[in-house]
Amino acid sequence: MSNFLVAIDGPAGSGKSTISENISARCGFIHIDTGSMYRAITLYAINNNLVLDDPNSYSFIDKINIRLSGDKIYLDGKDITRDIRNRHVTENVSLVSSISIVREKLVCLQKKLAIGKIVMDGRDIGSVVLPNANLKIFLTAESKIRAYRRLKEKNETINETDLIVEEKNIKRRDELDSNRVNSPLVVPAGAIIIDTTKLNIEEVTNKIIDLINERLNK
Ligand code: CDP
Repeated sequence: MSNFLVAIDGPAGSGKSTISENISARCGFIHIDTGSMYRAITLYAINNNLVLDDPNSYSFIDKINIRLSGDKIYLDGKDITRDIRNRHVTENVSLVSSISIVREKLVCLQKKLAIGKIVMDGRDIGSVVLPNANLKIFLTAESKIRAYRRLKEKNETINETDLIVEEKNIKRRDELDSNRVNSPLVVPAGAIIIDTTKLNIEEVTNKIIDLINERLNK
């Protein structure tokens, strides 16, 4: 089969990106991390001192070039892979991704990239970007464990106070992502829900690869 599209959605810290990377490495799929694209737009808007909640600020979107290559992301040729993970971007990305023109442009770009064997992760992949995906997965986990994973990712020593702050941030982002008018975070029709609270990355990856193989062999 030359085309096989896997859509992985879920909230922050549910494991989407790591699991998508694993699937990409083990099954030879191309991974498209759509969150990194929203982060790229946010970074550009911040660096250019634009008013983030004004849709008119985003006319630059037709003039810039976003390119994904392996696990790297480039904005107008510059590697911004590290910059898009900074705190300022993380705090503002949900606001930026609620702007209609931003969503329209990125969804259009993401649809165009969906050729071949693709694993695409985000918030609206199974519902809006790839409604006809061959496999749709919705990953979820309790907010406290998601906050713990996020802190571990940043290599921070974890204390109870940091955990409470991180969980609050994650819940705030969940809230914004789930309640926006445009493409909110929802469980897409036909998606298989996997609660990763008590599963490690390997177990979730194996589960999804089994599902891919089942459908490929149908
Ligand atoms: O990795 P993490 O879950 O923290 O976030 P991300 O995947 O890098 O996405 C960052 C933000 O971009 C999310 O909180 C959403 O607000 C937004 N996003 C979106 O609206 N739609 C997508 N398809 C992907 C991300």
